[in-house]
Amino acid sequence: MGSFNDINLKKWKESEIWTDSLWIIPERDKSGKHDNSYHGNFVPQIPRQLILRYTKKNDIVFDPFVGSGTTAYEAESLKRNFIGIDIQKKLISKIKNNLDGKNNFSILVKGDSTKKITLNKIIESLKQRKKKKVQLAILHPPYFDIIKFSQFNDDLSNAKSLEDFLKKFRLVLENTASLLEEKRYLAIVIGDKYSDSQWIPLGFYCMNEAQKLGLTLKSIIVKNMSGNRGKQNKEAIWRYRALASDYYIFKHEYILIFKK
Ligand SMILES: C[S@@+](CC[C@H](N)C(=O)[O-])C[C@H]1O[C@@H](n2cnc3c(N)ncnc32)[C@H](O)[C@@H]1O
Repeated sequence: MGSFNDINLKKWKESEIWTDSLWIIPERDKSGKHDNSYHGNFVPQIPRQLILRYTKKNDIVFDPFVGSGTTAYEAESLKRNFIGIDIQKKLISKIKNNLDGKNNFSILVKGDSTKKITLNKIIESLKQRKKKKVQLAILHPPYFDIIKFSQFNDDLSNAKSLEDFLKKFRLVLENTASLLEEKRYLAIVIGDKYSDSQWIPLGFYCMNEAQKLGLTLKSIIVKNMSGNRGKQNKEAIWRYRALASDYYIFKHEYILIFKK
């Protein structure tokens, strides 16, 4: 067993863990508590792979953009503790109702992950459980303004500009890194965007923010995007538009792995 996971290397041939930097996920895992109704969620296989690879049972997984709770449900089914934040109260209430809390604890906070006040709430809740740090952080921020998640000003999808988005993302990264145990892992799941006839490499900009904080880049995983709800039934029109113009159609996003 590794120092940061429960992988049994004596049975390595049977391991379900992916070790290639290209993840082609043919379809969403539909088992478990996920309902797939949240526009902008990720497939459960992403947090599942990361949790199995980078944590042990009873470690604490942290997600500051918890959304519909995909990471929360995977953490629960893999017997990990969980801490999640989202700016939307209705999402937090729904996740709380769906988690059973039998084997592991879950802390769900409605708040702005850029703010110290939110961080302090988490530190306080950890203290009550005689804990100080988390062992894995998974960040799946809005891809700037591609999907508007809420009407709140502090929602990263309502950032005024790319610079403002990156400034806010950096604040979340700083808070998250301060909660993360030394030598443990942080993953960012992010895609790029296109605007004003230009490819905006959001993924690389976000990667750069994490590197500037001193986190060590361990892997850039490229993941396919087929089957995303927004693009269904629109393949033909996108192909026509691409042929008539000079760009390529987005088919991938990134999972960036860092070590503290
Ligand atoms: C891409 S979604 C995450 C989806 C999630 N991985 C899932 O599978 O459901 C990003 C989430 O970040 C939340 N969010 C945006 N800005 C935030 C902020 N400043 N603090 C906390 N949450 C924020 C949005 O409400 C949205 O639910």
